[in-house]
Amino acid sequence: MKIVKKIEEVKSYIKAWKTEGDTVGFVLTMGYLHEGHQSLINRAAENDRIVVSIFVNPMQFGPKEDLASYPRDLDRDSKLCEENGVDLIFYPEPEEMYAPDFCSYVDMSVLTEELCGQSRPVHFRGVCTVVSKLFNIVTPDRAYFGEKDAQQLAIIRRMVRDLNFNVEIIGCPIIREKDGLAKSSRNTYLSKEERKAALVLSRSIEHGKKILQQGERNAAVLIDAMKDYIATEPLARIDYLKAVDAFSMQPVDELKGATLVAMAVFIGKTRLIDNFVFENNI
Ligand code: PAJ
Repeated sequence: MKIVKKIEEVKSYIKAWKTEGDTVGFVLTMGYLHEGHQSLINRAAENDRIVVSIFVNPMQFGPKEDLASYPRDLDRDSKLCEENGVDLIFYPEPEEMYAPDFCSYVDMSVLTEELCGQSRPVHFRGVCTVVSKLFNIVTPDRAYFGEKDAQQLAIIRRMVRDLNFNVEIIGCPIIREKDGLAKSSRNTYLSKEERKAALVLSRSIEHGKKILQQGERNAAVLIDAMKDYIATEPLARIDYLKAVDAFSMQPVDELKGATLVAMAVFIGKTRLIDNFVFENNI
């Protein structure tokens, strides 16, 4: 397995592989890898070559967010990658990705305006820009994204369609801890007490699914019931909790077509996200 810091070096490996006729699967990450990332890497094994990028992208963090404290551990990450058949880790420094006079951005409207886009105004511009750059550097046949970041996945799918990127986007299911908490690099911020409190996210999802099973289809009724459930946890503070169309990310009144029910909840100072998609088939 190669660990490569320079863009030109990545390109030359990819060129050599493609000349041999190998397909390339790509998993984009910010590192501090866990079983969620691993599930994407394992799925990418359907390609001849697997590339993983590890880059804590400054452009997608707001000024008051956790860029400086975001957990990093390349040794641990490279072990996980090696054990899971990764051929190349692309691990650039910010200076390699962004020239001092960098001024080109990929900006999307509509889908970026709801949910995380409201509380993190610069976030998706940073994500779309870095993902575009990484696609241009790696030119993968397939790229793998987790449904945990459902809005990000919908945005990347739309960007690839709108801008004609030559890559197939594959969505992969949310990987959870045994007790239901969605795996996240940010879970490491939680104290013991907060870790327990964080269960309120996945439990509110179970609660919401039960309500839908009973036949409820009114979004406000569902969302209010889930919010009431979260309010029983004193350490939790809701950032947002909404039902939106799974493709356009626009709020819905009734759960008819594919609907994304998504939330961001602060547990203490840590902001966690979780979601489920309802397709009228629970
Ligand atoms: P990061 O948060 O490291 O996540 C990398 C990929 O792993 C994303 O596609 C994310 O959805 C997926 N993932 C994280 N936790 C998961 C879980 N519990 N189950 C399934 N998949 C999971 O998302 C980013 O990085 C960045 O925004 C990035 C796309 C790399 C651009 O900088």
